[in-house]
This record gives sequence, structure tokens and C-alpha cells, in this order.
Amino acid sequence: APAKTEEFATNLPAGVYAETVLSVTHYTDYLFRFTMTRPAGFRFRSGEFAMIGLVVGDKPIYRAYSIASPAWSEELEFFSIKVPDGPLTQHLQKIKPGDKVLMRKKPTGTLVLDALVPGKRLYMFSTGTGIAPFASLIRDPETYEKYEEVILTHTCREVAELKYGFDLVEEIRADEMLNEIVGDKLKHYATVTREDYPFKGRITDLIESGKLFADLGVPPLDPAVDRAMICGSMTMIRDTAALLEKAGLTEGANNNPAEFVIERAFVG
Ligand code: A2P
Repeated sequence: APAKTEEFATNLPAGVYAETVLSVTHYTDYLFRFTMTRPAGFRFRSGEFAMIGLVVGDKPIYRAYSIASPAWSEELEFFSIKVPDGPLTQHLQKIKPGDKVLMRKKPTGTLVLDALVPGKRLYMFSTGTGIAPFASLIRDPETYEKYEEVILTHTCREVAELKYGFDLVEEIRADEMLNEIVGDKLKHYATVTREDYPFKGRITDLIESGKLFADLGVPPLDPAVDRAMICGSMTMIRDTAALLEKAGLTEGANNNPAEFVIERAFVG
């Protein structure tokens, strides 16, 4: 795949970038993060996704990937699963610094600050690689201009899968400028469902029981002040959205901002 993608990159069709991989971090047998160069003219809003691809066989294949880096960053970051027979990820998981990766020029998505009406507290509910768009948003100063409190929840099956989220928060703390902006507004709430850990359970159960709010020391969901974004599997989105609706929040979109927005975590 690397050689064919490189060859394709020498004669790119309009609408496609070919960028250079800068770093690759493997977290588990099925999770990795990579960064690549950002094309000079490429604009996106924190939380959006782009189509990422490689040439496989004799044609490029693309999959949707949330851009995990914030809009101000010089590099583009992505957080991906590895699927042994995944058409793209079986190849993408083997990329090395210096390799080329394709990206379609138009980013899009609903997990953007503009799709929410103003509020005080922003919840970001994620499972698995669904944390990626929030990795972007929690590093964007605009998030903290708009909200007094930002709560990122991340639920995975196993503890090792949570590491990316903890690395992110550490990165923020190590960045003097960003850390000053974030202050104590950001709360990271990580739970697992299939291993022993101090914080256990599906986010839906933790919302329903009220344990999430008790642990965080915040009042129950209130449509007057609480806003939310959801990113995970289809069923996780459906079940979490149902709980938000029960609490009186309504779903919004880019052209119709409201109290919460959803996006499926993309898979390779
Ligand atoms: P569980 O282990 O109880 O299935 P997956 O890899 O299947 O997408 O799951 C990622 C995480 O999301 C797991 O911790 C899983 O919990 C949880 N999860 C799966 N389905 C739902 C759902 N419908 N509502 C809330 N959490 C879910």
C-alpha cells in the first residue's frame, strides 16, 4: 500500500491531498493514533471528520475519520481501530513516518460547537474511538470560551483502551498556554465495562443511576444549562440520546442548533 499510494500521490486528482505521516503510536492490538502533515489550505472546525485513504490494489479506498487534533494545530491527528480484515485499517495500521496518506479535501460533521445553543456545561459522551472528535474539541480554546465546564466521558471495554484519553489530558496539562485556558474546567471521566477498575459501567447506566453526576459533583441533566455531544456505536448513541431526550434536551444540527448533537464513531 505505501508504494502504490506514493505513486498515486505523484498525479493526484483534484479534491484529494496526499500528506506525510509524522508519527504513529500503537495503544493496543486494535487501537492506534497517527499524525500527519496538514495541507496549507485545509480548514476544518474542531469536531469534524474527513475521508482518509490509501491506495489498495489499484484504487484508493477511503473511510471517515474524525480529526482528533484541534482546528489550530499544524498537524492532523487521527485515532483508529485496527481490523484484521478491514479494507482500509488492515493497511493503515502498518503506516510508518514518511509514508503518504490520502485525504479528501472537504471535512464535515455535526459534533461542532456551532450546532449547539449556548449553555453552561458541555458533556462529551464517547465510547471507544468515539473519543476522537472530542480530542479535538477539548484542545480548542473556543470550547472553554463557550462553556464554564466541560465533561468528557470515555467508556471502553478494557483499561488499556482508555490510555489515549489519559494521554490527551496529560498533553493538555503539559502545554502551558492550553493548560491556562483549560484550567479546572475540564473533567475527564473514564469507565470500563469488562475489566476491574475503580470506575465501572456503561455511561447510559451511570446516567440513569445518577452515579455520573454524583461522582462529578454536578446536578442532574438540565436542558436550561446542559449541552451534550455523543459519539460511539449506533446503539450507544441511540440509548444515550434517549436519556438526554428524557431529561428534556433536544437534538440539534448545523442548520438547526439545539441542546445535543450526535455522530457515529466511524469504523474501518
Ligand atoms: P459493554 O462492554 O457493556 O458492551 P463496543 O466496542 O461494543 O462499541 O463497546 C465500547 C464500549 O461501549 C463498551 O464499554 C460497551 O459496553 C459500551 N456500549 C456498548 N453498547 C452500548 C450502549 N448501547 N449503551 C452504552 N454503552 C454501550
